[in-house]
Amino acid sequence: MQRILVVDDAEINRDLLCTILEDEYTIETAENGKQALNRLRAHEKDTAAVLLDLQMPEMDGFTVITEMKKNSYLERIPVLIISSEHSAEVENRCLELGVSDFIHKPFDSSIVRNRVKNTIELFERKNELGRKVEEQEEALRQRDKIIQIQAGKLKEIKAFNRLMMEYRFAIMEVETRLKVLNEEFSHKFKRNPFESIKSRLKSPESIYEKLERKGYPVTVENIREHLTDIAGLRVICSFPDDIYHLANLFTRQGDIVLLKKKDYIKCPKESGYRSLHLILSIPVFLSSEIKYVKAEIQFRTIAMDFWASLEHKMRYKKDVDNAEEVAAQLRECAATIEMLDHQMQDIRDKIDTPD
Ligand code: GTP
Ligand code: MG
Repeated sequence: MQRILVVDDAEINRDLLCTILEDEYTIETAENGKQALNRLRAHEKDTAAVLLDLQMPEMDGFTVITEMKKNSYLERIPVLIISSEHSAEVENRCLELGVSDFIHKPFDSSIVRNRVKNTIELFERKNELGRKVEEQEEALRQRDKIIQIQAGKLKEIKAFNRLMMEYRFAIMEVETRLKVLNEEFSHKFKRNPFESIKSRLKSPESIYEKLERKGYPVTVENIREHLTDIAGLRVICSFPDDIYHLANLFTRQGDIVLLKKKDYIKCPKESGYRSLHLILSIPVFLSSEIKYVKAEIQFRTIAMDFWASLEHKMRYKKDVDNAEEVAAQLRECAATIEMLDHQMQDIRDKIDTPD
């Protein structure tokens, strides 16, 4: 049977509550706040609820609640106030302190039993949920640790480091070819098709995590075979048509192989995300061979990039208030940005009449 602590200075109230509840619970009693805290300390783990009077000699109910809060008992043990005090002000003060419910005098046995039962059940569910969250957080921490260790091991493998070097070369190759196109374009048409290029090599932690997620053992062969975004580049253009122009010029180069094209500009993602993704095989000229290495290029406009970084932040942030509303706002902004990009492009076309 679960244990309940009844705290009241009037013996008649303690007896009444014992009679009402003793069939279902083990009842302990206390005559004042001090006794109550002593009993709680002794049975901290197995007290299911406290029924607490407010006005008592030695230590009153408010002090008991305050102390329970200080010792973090209140997070796990529900307190129901038994009081003849009905003023809204007192009830409010109790609720603010973290009290769960009230049982008013004179006692109605069925109300007492139901209130106590419901409150205990609610707390059990809350505590169970809290425990589950803690367990999950611990599992995540453990997983993070494993990823760190495995990533550390990867870094010690020579073949892995060699592979990473090839991806770095692929990034250099793509960057150079794009910069060449940009400069030539600028010479020919007096404008640049892109504003900037950013690049990144996927970290060993992310590589390990992604292969695991896809269900492949972490080996150098599987990295090469199944991951396409280890060498990642982002090309930021001013206008939407520059994206397609540049992407076409680039993929037309004879030795570049287009493995996959994902056009999230023509078919935006549910989130509102827009970008053109190309997954390519890039030749890297090594001392004794030409090696084809995979790389992912994301093309987007300045405005799309602005959007994507904000949306990315929101995606990885826990506990965002009104997440649904923010997601809807972001979708709306993405549509506005698309309109704006095209309006800007129209204006550019009017200004940029050929000489
Ligand atoms: P990842 O495992 O995330 O690489 O997904 P994927 O391999 O299935 O490819 P996808 O085309 O969905 O996404 C590739 C990359 O595009 C992601 O790693 C992000 O950088 C970017 N991306 C895709 N969808 C979104 C999105 O909704 N918002 C933002 N901010 N970026 C996105
Ligand atoms: Mg990816």
